[in-house]
Amino acid sequence: MAVPEYVIEQIRNSNDIVSVISEHIILKKTGANHKAICPFHKEKTPSFVVSPEKQIFHCFGCGEGGNVFSFIMKYENISFFEALKKLADRAGIVLPEDAVSKQQDKSRDEKKLLYEINRCAADYYKECLQNSPSAKIAREYVKKRKLTRQIIDKFDIGYAPSTSCEMLKLIKEKGYSKELFKKAGLMVFSEKSGKWIDKFYNRIMFPITDNEGRVIAFGARAFDDAVPKYLNSPDTPLFNKSKVLYGLNLAKKPIREKSRMIVVEGYMDVMTAHQYGFENTVATLGTALTEEHARIIPRYTEKVSIVYDSDAAGVNATLRGIGVLLDTNLSVTVSVFPDGSDPDSFLHSRGSDEFFKRIENGMEIVDYKIKIASDGVDINTTGGKISVASQVLPFLERLKNEIYQEEGIKKLSGAIKIPAHVLKEELKRSRKSRPALKSRFEKINRQNIAELKLENNLVLILLKYPELAPIIFDEKKLPVDEFNNNNLSIIMSVILQLHEQAKPVEAKNIMNLVCSRYEKDESILEEINKTVSSLYLAKIEYRNPEKTARILIDDYNAVKSKKKYDELKKAVVMSLVNGDRKKSKEFVEQYKLIKGTHN
Ligand code: CTP
Ligand code: MN
Repeated sequence: MAVPEYVIEQIRNSNDIVSVISEHIILKKTGANHKAICPFHKEKTPSFVVSPEKQIFHCFGCGEGGNVFSFIMKYENISFFEALKKLADRAGIVLPEDAVSKQQDKSRDEKKLLYEINRCAADYYKECLQNSPSAKIAREYVKKRKLTRQIIDKFDIGYAPSTSCEMLKLIKEKGYSKELFKKAGLMVFSEKSGKWIDKFYNRIMFPITDNEGRVIAFGARAFDDAVPKYLNSPDTPLFNKSKVLYGLNLAKKPIREKSRMIVVEGYMDVMTAHQYGFENTVATLGTALTEEHARIIPRYTEKVSIVYDSDAAGVNATLRGIGVLLDTNLSVTVSVFPDGSDPDSFLHSRGSDEFFKRIENGMEIVDYKIKIASDGVDINTTGGKISVASQVLPFLERLKNEIYQEEGIKKLSGAIKIPAHVLKEELKRSRKSRPALKSRFEKINRQNIAELKLENNLVLILLKYPELAPIIFDEKKLPVDEFNNNNLSIIMSVILQLHEQAKPVEAKNIMNLVCSRYEKDESILEEINKTVSSLYLAKIEYRNPEKTARILIDDYNAVKSKKKYDELKKAVVMSLVNGDRKKSKEFVEQYKLIKGTHN
């Protein structure tokens, strides 16, 4: 543990959650709690609740929640340690020297250096583009691509000279190691020549930044027809292509202001869009939208306009991206451009008004899917109708929202001139054609859901009535480490730890322990804080908590033992099928032991 628990506790105690949050959003007192419009999702009526008593917040609209650290992490998009430092500063607490230095352990130190190196390289490339005599060709290229001075500055565009030993110069000057430059993706060691050379040379350099504007990687464009057209940084400890939205750091404020994110395909499209006033534009870098992207977007807006190139690759990437977004609640439209153009060329040739119109009048995804499916198909023929329907129906089946689905069927019906009720039947039939698979899943699910409910209720009752801990842990000996749900299992083990250390089982202690256990793994931290805050603020009362707790545990043990019994039964059959007599005998013995309680 890098920062001692008592320090985390001290910082938390000195930062009252209500006063911290009210420095960022407007809170309104209602009863014992405070309410607000949630800053993490769009809403009209407040469902964001802050509890001064429990020192936690929770949004019943989007599920965000946690303690004062989680709020600052989320609101400012920073790490746990950064939030800790911020709140320590706010309270005038100096973090113990060794906590700080231990915190800056190897990986953190290395990341910090990698950020520094990337920044350093970006500055170097930028300086080259501006002033190096050898960059004349690059300056001409930039001009040819109509990149203005402001855009060059805003996006830190640079030039990597045609020699391939520029980074060595930087290393000499600044004293970093070659290994670190390799880790940053800026240098490679050539086995053939036994030499260290630059990864990027004779290219226009586009730095890629993270959410805070730190350079994490580069995209490098060749002049004219050299291949590959773009060379990108490899994945590094800082960079993962499928998680990055290029330009997001610059676009995030305009996205919130305009309540819309425009997603394009490439670097050039982003820069030109910004130049023409569409500063709410970001790009996926040569990939379709991924699930990781889909998780980032709702932090900023619920409206997404996809504007990919009009070539085959662009269409495929659009369809794949839409597929990912189907599982979200985002409202997505697709804007199509004339053949052969991309946002960059379209903006230069047709201007911002035309572009704006196409964004505003984007197609709904169902319309887009129908359009693409019927491209080059004669929908007046039976074959044509079947072909379109067979592509669009599975797509409609995946739509989350039934109203959209209903609307989609109407649209498809209009497009291929087949009555809606026929299409609906077809949709039902295609669902039914996988019944075997489905019922198996359903069975597994039912069992798991029962287990999950019990796990959930056990945690809930312990949070509400911590005085039940001795009954649950000591008397009934709940098998905590057998919990199926990861979050609930972690929370239970934290509660158990508090109980064993004779510390009060209360929100702040639970969250402190979770924070100090998982400060390195922020996704878990986030998940658990959400779960804890929602359970704490759940409005449930038990008439006889003690009796309920005993019943819950008995039910839980019964579900668990039924599961073991089912598994054993299966194991016996499998070992018989495989002819493994020794194993099957073993299993049968175990089976006999617990059979009495089941049938
Ligand atoms: N891309 C890539 N590697 C390539 C080609 C493309 O990584 N060899 C990625 C880049 O992020 C690029 C995006 O895919 O920006 C879109 O590709 P493309 O449309 O070909 O590039 P543009 O950004 O439009 O660049 P340009 O206008 O210079 O052709
Ligand atoms: Mn393009």
